[in-house]
Amino acid sequence: MANIPSSGRDGFSSKFGVIAAAAGSAVGLGNIWRFPYVAGENGGGAFLLLYVIFIALIGIPVMLSEFTIGRRAQANPFGAFLKLKNGKPFIVVGIMGIIAAFFILAFYSTVAGWTLEYIYKAIANAFEGKTTDELGTMFSDFHTGTFMPVFWQVIFMVLTAVIIFAGVKGGIEKMTKLLMPMLFLIIIVLCVGSVLLGENTDPDTGAKIGNSLDGLKFLFYPDFSKINAQAILAALGQAFFSLSIGMGVLITYGSYIQKDNNLSSTAVQVSIADTMVAILAGVAIFPAVFYFGYSPESGPGLVFKVLPGIFQQLPGGYIVGILFFVLLAIAALTSSISVLEVVVSAMVEELKMKRVPATIISTAAITLFGVLCTLAFGPLKGVVIAGKNIFDLLEFSASNILLPLGGLLIVIYLGWFLGKRNLHDELSNSGTIKVRLFQIFLFIVRFIAPIAILAVFLNGLGVFGFESVGG
Ligand code: PHE
Repeated sequence: MANIPSSGRDGFSSKFGVIAAAAGSAVGLGNIWRFPYVAGENGGGAFLLLYVIFIALIGIPVMLSEFTIGRRAQANPFGAFLKLKNGKPFIVVGIMGIIAAFFILAFYSTVAGWTLEYIYKAIANAFEGKTTDELGTMFSDFHTGTFMPVFWQVIFMVLTAVIIFAGVKGGIEKMTKLLMPMLFLIIIVLCVGSVLLGENTDPDTGAKIGNSLDGLKFLFYPDFSKINAQAILAALGQAFFSLSIGMGVLITYGSYIQKDNNLSSTAVQVSIADTMVAILAGVAIFPAVFYFGYSPESGPGLVFKVLPGIFQQLPGGYIVGILFFVLLAIAALTSSISVLEVVVSAMVEELKMKRVPATIISTAAITLFGVLCTLAFGPLKGVVIAGKNIFDLLEFSASNILLPLGGLLIVIYLGWFLGKRNLHDELSNSGTIKVRLFQIFLFIVRFIAPIAILAVFLNGLGVFGFESVGG
């Protein structure tokens, strides 16, 4: 079987392997932790609408562009632009990608560490019998601490590095094939449990605390008065973050995709799967948020405070809680390995380093950086730059600036510099499959996507004062 792409590099062995690995990168904390809290801060339904429009109009084209560049060049984002026609100036995408990888893994490993702590708490049955307030305090006490959050973060980074040692096929592909569908199922269970919570009244006074159906309304009913420059930029940033686009992750994965894979349908399928998981996560979280009387604007701690409340109310909630956090941690891992792979593959291919030392060095550097993010909620709380703590600052600059800028350059390269014939050749697998909607795709990458990204940026310029954004 043609397991190895023509260049002889390590690669994905099957069509499902490709989709699973790319979906593994896309589906992660971005869907389950980040989407609900950012949607909550930016108006719910109106945000969701913008988000879905950005996925369709900008996200899918950027994803397909990355796959195309990666598979055509058979290289990491640096090597790719060095090899391809007119590519040299675009190695800046590779440089920004490495910076974004550092930023993203730094705060990602913080939150992934929280997830590991919550596996432990779930096993220890720590949520049982706790009130809403107590669950909130439990999270605050933990994440503002010093030793434990850092400990779990380091463990998570070590796990990420270990999988990267094993290489692409052995490590990345196997993880995702089985576990992604399981995560999907468990989220659906949570959705049902959350929506069915119903009306919550104070047992002493009989006063209404909240109703789960209000959460559905919050998520799906667009209140356009909530849309402002900040919400639009946040929706664009969330679309890029969630799809893992704009920093070369999918250029790198594209280079591992076989020549007979239909890239267009892979991009569409991965994007749909990713968006569905985010929406389902919203359906799991917001009804519970309203039922328990939380504010949707509770920031990065939202899911950690709210979900344990659902587990308590579900039959078999003890097991569901453990399973959920285990699967969430695994979803986080299949994303973090894709980010680390960008750094490691660049070091291996461009600096001619061996895989193991490249992994150790980059992991150590990123972890040191990440510890600052983790401590931003505790000892380093006072360090505020441009109105944000270190965690918020890295999260904002990576998602809302670096990724969209990278995406802008990627579509401009694909639309204007790679050459129409090269593009068609790669998308049609050298003429063996028909490329539907080629002209439309070309029009989108040449005009619509770049103009839309620029417009959101210019519109959001005020936001770059960093005031009042993020949690
Ligand atoms: N898409 C991942 C998630 O949703 C995060 C990620 C961002 C991964 C950027 C790679 C690149 O969790």
